[in-house]
Amino acid sequence: MLVLGIETSCDETAVSLVENGRKILSNEVASSLHLHKKYGGVVPEIATRHHVELINYVLARALDKAKVKLSDIDLISVVYGPGLVGALLIGVSLAKALSLSLNVPLVGINHLQAHLYAGLMQNSLRFPFVGLVVSGGHTTLFYVKDFLKWKILGSTLDDAAGEAFDKAAKILNLGYPGGPIIEKKAKGGCRDRIKFSRAYLGKESLDFSFSGLKTALLYYVKDKTIKKTGREIADIAASFQEAAVDMLREKALRACLFKRVKSFVVGGGVIMNRRLREALEETLMSRGIAVHFPQSPLCQDNAAMVAGLGYQLYRRGIISNLNLEVQPNLKT
Ligand code: KG4
Ligand code: ZN
Repeated sequence: MLVLGIETSCDETAVSLVENGRKILSNEVASSLHLHKKYGGVVPEIATRHHVELINYVLARALDKAKVKLSDIDLISVVYGPGLVGALLIGVSLAKALSLSLNVPLVGINHLQAHLYAGLMQNSLRFPFVGLVVSGGHTTLFYVKDFLKWKILGSTLDDAAGEAFDKAAKILNLGYPGGPIIEKKAKGGCRDRIKFSRAYLGKESLDFSFSGLKTALLYYVKDKTIKKTGREIADIAASFQEAAVDMLREKALRACLFKRVKSFVVGGGVIMNRRLREALEETLMSRGIAVHFPQSPLCQDNAAMVAGLGYQLYRRGIISNLNLEVQPNLKT
């Protein structure tokens, strides 16, 4: 079954063709990241206009690369939430138009569930598992019983993990997006130098909080006695990164032990961070819990994960109709 996936929830205009849920024939992504850099974060109106300008071009490229025609498509799968309302509307409108004109079924996809499916595309693993989505907009833990049963175990009470990295880089005047820059600076630094506090929110909580860490960094940097040498910036970046990583690994472990699962899947842009990958493996594998990461092009927003999950849901009887509405605050 050939599935066309469409993703426009934030700043990536993405279209992909996937066969039978796993075989990626094309995975085209046009990002508007460069247009947001000077603002230090995604500007919704700019992201939406970029989708309008590029979506037809990205669709044509995806078809071309996959060497298929519109008439070969069996199913359309599109993200309808959570995300930016205007941005989501572009993808959903295209999906509906194609579904109607080609007379093929349509499936609406939850963006966060798609991020976790990305970790399943190249790995076969057994349900149930615990999943973590860590991106610029979300930090959410799920218990996944099967493709139709997703339960939220906890999420951030304030900033998302990626957002915290972005804000930290802004405070340090390092640029945007902050995650990759902080990781690079952290490489030469000492991660135990500055003791930034970790918010564990009690012994059993599966929620996250990153705003205190960001504020701690802000106050540390404001201290006029601190000299902003390269060495100091490296230590700040490494210590900040380690605090964020510790909070993520602790909650991941708690969730896996609480649900007694042996598999953990993680997705979203922050999982590009090598220290986070290493720490999750270290913490979970020593308890006999297997850790699954998506391949790097599937960590960030893309439409292959959307097409893949669409196939799995459609096979289990899920189908949307042309009344599908965008849901910017969609949970599960
Ligand atoms: O999933 P994504 O591409 O977009 C959404 O937010 O949905 O994630 C982008 C986020 C940004 O906040 C970025 O700073 C963060 O992922 N990120 C990283 C790294 N690469 C990207 N954070 C930490 N370390 C990285 N290497
Ligand atoms: Zn995302």
